Amino acid sequence: MKTIIEPFRIRTVEPLFVTTREERETILREAHFNVFDIRARHVLIDLLTDSGTGAMSSLQWAGIMRGDESYAGSESFFHFRERLEQLTGFPHILPTHQGRASERILFELVGGAGRVIPNNNHFDTTRANIEHSGAEAVDLVIDEAADPTSRHPFKGNLDIGKLEHLIERVGADRIPLCMVTVTNNSGGGQPVSLENLRAVRSVCDRHGIPLFLDACRFAENAYFIRLREAGQADRPVRDIVRDMFDLADGATISAKKDGLVNIGGVLLLRDDALAQQADALLILTEGFTTYGGLAGRDLEAMAQGFEEVMHEDYLAYRLRSTAYLGEKLLAAGYRIVEPPGGHAIYIDAGDCCNHIPPDRFPGQALVCALYRHAGIRACEIGSVMFGGPGRAAPALELVRLAIPRRVYTQSHIDYVAEACAELYERRTTLRGLHITNDPPSLRHFTARFVEV
Ligand SMILES: Cc1ncc(COP(=O)(O)O)c(C=O)c1O
Repeated sequence: MKTIIEPFRIRTVEPLFVTTREERETILREAHFNVFDIRARHVLIDLLTDSGTGAMSSLQWAGIMRGDESYAGSESFFHFRERLEQLTGFPHILPTHQGRASERILFELVGGAGRVIPNNNHFDTTRANIEHSGAEAVDLVIDEAADPTSRHPFKGNLDIGKLEHLIERVGADRIPLCMVTVTNNSGGGQPVSLENLRAVRSVCDRHGIPLFLDACRFAENAYFIRLREAGQADRPVRDIVRDMFDLADGATISAKKDGLVNIGGVLLLRDDALAQQADALLILTEGFTTYGGLAGRDLEAMAQGFEEVMHEDYLAYRLRSTAYLGEKLLAAGYRIVEPPGGHAIYIDAGDCCNHIPPDRFPGQALVCALYRHAGIRACEIGSVMFGGPGRAAPALELVRLAIPRRVYTQSHIDYVAEACAELYERRTTLRGLHITNDPPSLRHFTARFVEV
């Protein structure tokens, strides 16, 4: 069959609330044109993020009931640890409450003034945690990533030449580790090839630098490898996932993505001494090593989620349904980051709203217009998220339509595509924004704007 269906049926439903255009106008103003400040019940289709917004399966909910809430040594922890051991092969598996908690522990240990951490593209919380430690976060993604129309199959790859150059410039002793984000969220949800991971590994080995993955979307990345990388088509995704983790000395994971849960994270380490230090910090700020800031039931849900995400019918549906929205937006005239990424479609708002300069936030203008027009909530990934005093302007002004896992049906996505197409026709009427409250860190969450 050509039609790839949602590989699940629905037994629990949640109502959506429809608002009028007039109501949305008032809501937008009251939120100071920052959609993070809008109550979720005032949103019709919520594409703000794919993080923690997915639907859990009946088996995950069954796990929630089974959760062992013992303070130390709960069965749920051992269940979680076995699953992750099987999947990743790592000897040290620390549960955390979400991805940024793993990042905070890691960079408190290896960051600090004078240190430099390369990545293809640091995600915003990773960058913020590195900078908070006093270290410098450097993005080294391949140049093709800056060209939204380039259909390079692995636009998330880290540029090996740029990595060598950085090591030569700052010295390997100032680089405590190199990260690679799979898939590359800030660069359009683009995958990284196994070949590239191997090449990064070999440069790191030559200079004695450990390699870490930001592995929030490891399963989506592995499925892309299977679809696009020579020699991988017949391999089980499980084996590709294992190859990816085998190349790394550690990984941070937000389980709110490919862990298919609403809350949870993981820190994976190989080095015993580093793991001992991480355990101490985990106990200090998250909780004992067998629960790490979570309830036992959360660990059960994660154990099951990390299994379900490996199902190939799920991954085929996931990647195809995201591409489906991308194709509709291209047909409507939008320039998007091509080829479509795994978890989201990224609209090039700089192209769509080329009458709005970057310092008037074309991406945020499009985000506000989508909400006003159709009650759709999207996320700006451009000058609001990455710009600000003392920061270089980002290469692209993007708007991300992130697709929560197993939540929306094809007709929801058709509605989104129709609303976007209508908006494209009136794109020249969109107005830029002026920032009135500019917080120093992670400003997109709490910044305030007025329309100009
Ligand atoms: C690539 C990447 N790294 C890290 C994080 C942070 O994870 P969390 O939101 O669970 O703290 C995210 C979240 O979106 C992400 O996409």
